[in-house]
Amino acid sequence: MSSRDYLYKKLRPELLAVTEESPAPTAGISRSISPRFTLERDVVLSPAIKQQIDEALVKIHHHHTIYVTWGFAEVDPCGVGTILNFHGAPGTGKTLTAEAFAGSIGKRIISASIADLESKFMGDTSKNIVQLFESARVEDAVVFLDEADTLLGKRLSSVTQGIDNEVNAMRSTLLIELEKHTGVVIFATNFARNYDNAFVSRISQHVRFELPGHSERRALWARMLVAGIPLDEDRERLLEELAATSEGLSGREIRTCMRLALPKPLLDGGTGVLHRSHLQEALAQLRSAQRDIHASQPEAGLDSIEATRKALGIHQGSNI
Ligand SMILES: Nc1ncnc2c1ncn2[C@@H]1O[C@H](COP(=O)(O)OP(=O)(O)O)[C@@H](O)[C@H]1O
Ligand SMILES: [Mg+2]
Repeated sequence: MSSRDYLYKKLRPELLAVTEESPAPTAGISRSISPRFTLERDVVLSPAIKQQIDEALVKIHHHHTIYVTWGFAEVDPCGVGTILNFHGAPGTGKTLTAEAFAGSIGKRIISASIADLESKFMGDTSKNIVQLFESARVEDAVVFLDEADTLLGKRLSSVTQGIDNEVNAMRSTLLIELEKHTGVVIFATNFARNYDNAFVSRISQHVRFELPGHSERRALWARMLVAGIPLDEDRERLLEELAATSEGLSGREIRTCMRLALPKPLLDGGTGVLHRSHLQEALAQLRSAQRDIHASQPEAGLDSIEATRKALGIHQGSNI
């Protein structure tokens, strides 16, 4: 379910069953999984992003040297854990990189978004957060919190309603858990601007994901144009052309183009061989769909506090 669908569902008050008995907290939290990707094999990153990711990897690999042998733990007892924040445009590989990061350090990953953590029962959202970190500790897994802008938003200074208390309690719990946690935590968001300063200062590294440049686009197309696809032209020349004509597209959009292009040669009467015209048509389809979507989206995003309220299913004036 997309976060937008999720918010819509949450905006329907009839879906709020406030009289039900509270289920065991953790019900919505998934178990850790073994990552399917690694950074080296599956992710295309610009040199600037790669360097930041490499520094985070070095910090983890040489943790003992820095904190124990060199004694940095004396002045930075809270820096034992590694907290990364991946922010930037949608479709640029933040979720993929989080899973691949876990894969590259040989750890499992446990993912959660506000949809998994929130509970319509007072207090249970905080319990779910505690449980998430506990599971990560037991399973030695990387914690990945997607759509983190809602979780890490500014805490509310004038608390007038139960829901505001709930949001503040959730954020305070998250701060405490982050402080205690000794493993790796990765946040990802398309909107980092609303983060509370208390969170910003606890994050070891902020990594900004940009739309791919020419050489990254070429590498993305090369990755997507897998070896088994029959081509009737020079692959290298085709890749060069695709990189040049796909400026402004994210990695996800390049994948979408491939999804649109690949059935084309298999249509009735098709040759079963992918031609550049199939890819060009797919690119044109994607760009025209993008224009339609942008034209029909009057509201770009929701204010973080308001989004949290809505995500938790509570409206202004509600007294639960
Ligand atoms: N930098 C990248 N390297 C490799 N594949 C990418 C990259 N960016 C996007 N993709 C492709 O697009 C898909 C969606 O990307 P995702 O990680 O969900 O983006 P984000 O979390 O930034 O919105 C990925 O699973 C992958 O197939
Ligand atoms: Mg994502």
